[in-house]
Amino acid sequence: MFLDAQSLEEEFGAKLGLPVLISLAREPVAPEALDPQEREAYARLQGNPRLECWLRGRMALRNLLSRLDESNGPGTLCFPHKVISLSHSGPYAVAAGVKSRATSGFGVDLELSRMPKPGSERFFLNAQEQVWIHTAPPISRPRELLRLWTVKEALFKANPHNRDSLLGHYGLIDPEALAGQARWRGDESIRYRYGTLALDDGFLTIAFRT
Ligand SMILES: CC(C)(COP(=O)(O)OP(=O)(O)OC[C@H]1O[C@@H](n2cnc3c(N)ncnc32)[C@H](O)[C@@H]1OP(=O)(O)O)[C@@H](O)C(=O)NCCC(=O)NCCS
Repeated sequence: MFLDAQSLEEEFGAKLGLPVLISLAREPVAPEALDPQEREAYARLQGNPRLECWLRGRMALRNLLSRLDESNGPGTLCFPHKVISLSHSGPYAVAAGVKSRATSGFGVDLELSRMPKPGSERFFLNAQEQVWIHTAPPISRPRELLRLWTVKEALFKANPHNRDSLLGHYGLIDPEALAGQARWRGDESIRYRYGTLALDDGFLTIAFRT
């Protein structure tokens, strides 16, 4: 499957009503090009199967930061972040962000070539969303579950205080919508927006907290 960053930016800009920058990487960054802080993480990841995708993520972040005119290198970034997020799946790493400081939290999640296990919905959907998923035709349920998984993960990443939160704490106003709003534990003062793009082999969701 081929993803094109420019068309993704256009589609998400329209869905979210916010200009979003997206950087895709299929190749890892060369270890010699890593920041000093990244080198520490690189040393810890030796022998870890995640190493290759972590290096791809570093590449995607570098490209994104250069477009955001950030003078600091990717090694100084901490997640969750107000305007930047990262996800990896299959052969891709995707970094996304916004130039304006309009968001107080930002999240991206990419899932390719996988399906959540049947029954896993009780771990990441709230009661109302579980009712909705059981009204979906059984044939489309696995794909709907994967879509909702990316929404919940992107919302989680967009919460600047996500450490003790669970995916089921994020409630979608309309679980069927490909772009919409969400709340955290029903708190009306905390507002999230998200947009999801259906891909051949999965989904890409971007969420932000206003
Ligand atoms: C942290 C978490 C969001 C990562 O998601 P993932 O699908 O495993 O992996 P992704 O590739 O999409 O994202 C990984 C990136 O998220 C970022 N990240 C890590 N922790 C994060 C956090 N707390 N908030 C925001 N972003 C985070 C990092 O940049 C990481 O990439 P890196 O390790 O290369 O730097 C996920 O593991 C998690 O904790 N989810 C919520 C907890 C939960 O409820 N789990 C399941 C219950 S059924």
